[in-house]
Amino acid sequence: NPIKAPSFVPGCANSGWNLDFKQGVRSGACCPPLSKQLEIDYKFPTTGETRIRQPIHSASPEYIEKFKKAIQKMRALPDDDPCSFKNQAKVHCAYCNGHYTQMASGYPEKVLHVHYSWLFFPFHRWYLYFFERILGDLIEDKTFGLPYWNWDNPAGMEIPTVFEEGGKSNPLFTSYRNVNHLRPAIIDLDYQMEERNHSPLDQIRINLCIMNRQMKRNASDAASFFGGKYVAGSNPIFRGDPSVGSIEAGCHTAIHRWVGDPRTPNNEDLGNFYSAGYDPLFYVHHANVDRMWTLWKGLGGEGRKEPTDKNWEDASYVFYDENRKPVRVYNKDCVNLEDLKYEYEVSETPWKSSPP
Ligand code: C2O
Repeated sequence: NPIKAPSFVPGCANSGWNLDFKQGVRSGACCPPLSKQLEIDYKFPTTGETRIRQPIHSASPEYIEKFKKAIQKMRALPDDDPCSFKNQAKVHCAYCNGHYTQMASGYPEKVLHVHYSWLFFPFHRWYLYFFERILGDLIEDKTFGLPYWNWDNPAGMEIPTVFEEGGKSNPLFTSYRNVNHLRPAIIDLDYQMEERNHSPLDQIRINLCIMNRQMKRNASDAASFFGGKYVAGSNPIFRGDPSVGSIEAGCHTAIHRWVGDPRTPNNEDLGNFYSAGYDPLFYVHHANVDRMWTLWKGLGGEGRKEPTDKNWEDASYVFYDENRKPVRVYNKDCVNLEDLKYEYEVSETPWKSSPP
């Protein structure tokens, strides 16, 4: 049977497995506000234009302003609003730190986890989908698309300055980032919590090879790119297991760790599941992770397609949409960007031709 997230009534527990790390700088109680209604299966809106997601390093000042404004408005929403920034951040914690069980698929004793398996890409796609729509509504711009952190392109291999400038008065800022990794540091896409001290040019070259490996050489079929099978009744597969997808295990996790603040108890914000959503950079990082899915399919080849297993297609999650309605969404419905109505603005992909 497919993994099926429980309903928000009552479905979530603010205790248990979630505190398997040290007392952190963020709250470990991550259940969403309770809903009075049961979720319904999500239906795509029939109106609305396509949103364009742009690389943040080359975005116009107007676009950046819009993004900042939207995040600021989201931060200003009250704590009982499921669309508030805090509650959006908690979505990640709830789905990754043991707040949900597999009770809706008949295994109340098993935890539900959306990492280390083939749930990784579709879960985060849906998560960003609603996050983006909420932001657009807050600034009354239904064409607003999330920016993406273009870390696979040499021009985007730093923490984008717009996240830091102005400090605390900047809605995109968090004080929990590694200060040694701010601009002009070049990101290490293979970061293992140890500085490698390469020259910027070497690091860029190494990063391109890493991207080539994780997108092309080591990712020629669904299992190697998406990750292994994970169905109801089984345990989440933990890090180190070969069945974690190439991007998830590789550059995606390296970036989380690289940005997290080593002075905090759990490498908050970005370096830990429970706190990652508190850094606005999370959503921009994941927009690029999501873009990798699209680029990977575009590389062609027999095997570069989504899993065809029913257990993947029918796996489902529950989110609040931009109208504060709980909705259930399925993996099979997030495969076509035409349905989701967003697109990625094209950016250079020099890793396609770099040595692996
Ligand atoms: Cu849910 Cu980048 O992690």
